[in-house]
Amino acid sequence: MLITTIGSGHVGGTLARLWTAGGYEVRVADRQNCAQAVADADVVALCVPWSAAEVALGSCGDLAGKILIDCTNPLSAGLDGLVLGTTTSAAEQIQRWYPNAQIVKAFNSIGAALLGKGEIDGRTADGYFCSDSATAKQVVRPLVTAAGLRPVDVGPLRNARYLEAIAMLWIDLAVNQKRGETFAFTLAGWSGTLS
Ligand SMILES: NC(=O)c1ccc[n+]([C@@H]2O[C@H](COP(=O)([O-])OP(=O)(O)OC[C@H]3O[C@@H](n4cnc5c(N)ncnc54)[C@H](OP(=O)(O)O)[C@@H]3O)[C@@H](O)[C@H]2O)c1
Repeated sequence: MLITTIGSGHVGGTLARLWTAGGYEVRVADRQNCAQAVADADVVALCVPWSAAEVALGSCGDLAGKILIDCTNPLSAGLDGLVLGTTTSAAEQIQRWYPNAQIVKAFNSIGAALLGKGEIDGRTADGYFCSDSATAKQVVRPLVTAAGLRPVDVGPLRNARYLEAIAMLWIDLAVNQKRGETFAFTLAGWSGTLS
């Protein structure tokens, strides 16, 4: 399985390093080589600012059939809110742009610096993900584990609108309220068993 990250910044660079360490074949796409780096990838992780998402994806060529992990948050320029939400999400917008790709929302609700850092207060931080594709979830679950997180499947892709709101809360606490960037969300008492 070949994974391509679009973006090599805090999120893309960190995920590429952790997945490589976990034994996955990983390629990193930059602005110049997206189409080439994505062409034969099975999994593509979108790790660019939301404002660049449409252009970056548009430079990637055909995404039909690929698993596309959306790590973005649709943040306003001042980090004081989301530019879309409540009735939709960045992930759902991407699914509308690319109806034949399998979109998974993941890695958006934890600070990149905490990826691969191990336990926080004796607990593994949660890696929330959602998708309408059961097959894509099966592929992404071990990638969440390889990033040092406890995989928590929160359901269909529409729940990305809530994962993006959770991320906004994290940003507001960590950055705007200056509470530090060393905390992460975890669900207490989560069994993970589907009824
Ligand atoms: N930082 C976090 O803790 C964190 C956590 C969770 C989710 N997120 C979300 O993850 C996304 C990435 O955040 P980040 O902190 O990793 O950003 P970052 O450090 O600024 O990195 C952004 C990357 O995107 C690349 N890029 C921008 N436009 C591009 C284009 N058109 N084509 C290809 N690559 C392009 C940049 O390349 P250049 O160097 O050429 O500009 C850079 O490698 C954002 O949507 C953010 O909201 C961030």
